[in-house]
Amino acid sequence: MNITKYTFPPHGDDRGQLVAIEATKDLPFAIKRVYYIYDTLPGVRRGFHAHRNLQQILICVSGSCKIHLDDGHDTAEVTLDKPNEGLYIANNMWREMYDFTPGAVLLVLASEYYDEADYIRNYEDFLKMVQEEGL
Ligand code: TYD
Repeated sequence: MNITKYTFPPHGDDRGQLVAIEATKDLPFAIKRVYYIYDTLPGVRRGFHAHRNLQQILICVSGSCKIHLDDGHDTAEVTLDKPNEGLYIANNMWREMYDFTPGAVLLVLASEYYDEADYIRNYEDFLKMVQEEGL
């Protein structure tokens, strides 16, 4: 599976690090929504869905976590452990997030507003859609 990661150059100096991300210059889409996941309890696995239209960039800005990706044909496990590295997740991609370290913060940059109708939450429906649409 083709995994697309973005590396954002840190503007580091003797005070520490700073990363700036500008919509459409540094990302393949304009950001409409930002959310973040934190205080994740040990052993939690979350996500378990795909999106019809939404594209996202996931950045573990503190700590680390792993992302399970599934395009209906292949799967991949991706570790996010760098605050200046983003994982691109295209639409029609099943994802699960797991192995959050204590205190991990997962920042998500999203191409669309929150829309429950955009979610595919049933894995069998996801596989059916991939097959029927020849994705
Ligand atoms: P949920 O979809 O369960 O998160 P995940 O897929 O990461 O396991 O979302 C948790 C709750 O937050 C759910 O009630 C929907 C709500 N939510 C919003 O209101 N806006 C958002 O942008 C997102 C991502 C979730």
